[in-house]
Amino acid sequence: MIQKPRGTRDFFPDELELRRRVEKEMREVVFRWGYREVATPEFEHLELFTLRSGEGIIEEMYAFQDKGGRDIALRPELTAPVLRMYVNEAKVLNKPIRWFYFGDCFRYERPQKGRYRQFWQFGIELIGADSAYADAEVIAVGHDLLTSSGVSFELHVGDLAMMKSLISDLPIDLSKQVRGCLDKRDYGALDDLFLDPDLVQSLTGLIESKTLDDAFAITGSIPEEERIREMFALLDTHGIPYVQNFGIARGLDYYTGCVFEAYAENLGAENQIMGGGAYRLAHLFGGDDTPSSGFAIGFDRVMVARGEEVVKRPVTVAVVATPEGRISGISVAAAFRKAGIRTISDLMGKSLSSQLSQAAKHADYVAVIGGREAEAGMVTLRDLSSGEQQMVTIEEAVAGVVGVGARS
Ligand code: HAM
Repeated sequence: MIQKPRGTRDFFPDELELRRRVEKEMREVVFRWGYREVATPEFEHLELFTLRSGEGIIEEMYAFQDKGGRDIALRPELTAPVLRMYVNEAKVLNKPIRWFYFGDCFRYERPQKGRYRQFWQFGIELIGADSAYADAEVIAVGHDLLTSSGVSFELHVGDLAMMKSLISDLPIDLSKQVRGCLDKRDYGALDDLFLDPDLVQSLTGLIESKTLDDAFAITGSIPEEERIREMFALLDTHGIPYVQNFGIARGLDYYTGCVFEAYAENLGAENQIMGGGAYRLAHLFGGDDTPSSGFAIGFDRVMVARGEEVVKRPVTVAVVATPEGRISGISVAAAFRKAGIRTISDLMGKSLSSQLSQAAKHADYVAVIGGREAEAGMVTLRDLSSGEQQMVTIEEAVAGVVGVGARS
């Protein structure tokens, strides 16, 4: 038996319908903020992802040569593709540009609960706005999305400028390692880097700081101070609860200022359900240096965090017919479907009793068409929950079912 590749999933209708419903709710949220959907290819030139992050990232990607010898990668995320699209085709658009996407991504990671090799991201990119208001809007959209998707989460917000101001004198490689340790709050690994003890004290003090004043007391005044204070004040104005966290370093290398992450309360190790921040990428792809910000929500993690749910079945009619009623049954079913009602009918010429027992499993109503009904142009409509039935015209049968809400 051939199995699906490691780290991928098949989705049965119940689960997929639920995912589509949550997806729809998320689309409605970003619509209200003025974001419009874009789509990019699932594979890109490998270079798009290595330009900023270096060759090291190839290990974490599905990268291969196509038949023409081109280096290609399945997209591990959508920010770089969307910015490539902006530089290729949308530079002239009026800014700021508000875009969102919902698409699958591929990462060659060790699969576990909440971590897959194919997973879906719902994200936004706000291109060409550089202000505390822009940072705050992006965070507010993320907060709105997660809230309306029904998960319990904690939002952490920070700014890379704070950490960078303390480690700006370190060589690039070392500063990357320091950021990695701080991101994970791995103080043991930080000790192993043999940094100046005063620096270690400042760094740990910064990421443990509870107020902006405490944090700025450690970094001293930095050029970004006013903007950072303004952004946090705006989050308060938006009414968004957050945890100040200047330890957030983000794994991806393109962030420049404000950064944020959200953690779901009921997930295990893989509890990060959203990550984002302000970044610059356009200039790397041949465009002007364009300040942007955005985030992506791990859609699969949202679904795991929501937990098990019972899917409500839309009201369903089963058309059940005797051999004499079978042909009339086609137009009866068509009438129900035309009215927007989900309608199924027997395809195998089964007996009336086995059609009825089949219907009891999948439907809420049965429209029975025997010889008598076929001749009179009527149906016997039976409500399976009450057992009541009545011979009525097709129009009456349709009207009797329309307007009934979903049943669980
Ligand atoms: P990221 O933090 O790498 O950021 O991914 C965003 C989210 O995708 C994560 O918070 C997580 O929920 C989900 N995710 C990541 N890897 C997996 C996986 N293997 N399985 C399931 N879910 C996963 C980005 O991708 C940036 N492009 C976000 C961004 C947009 N920054 C600016 N604009």
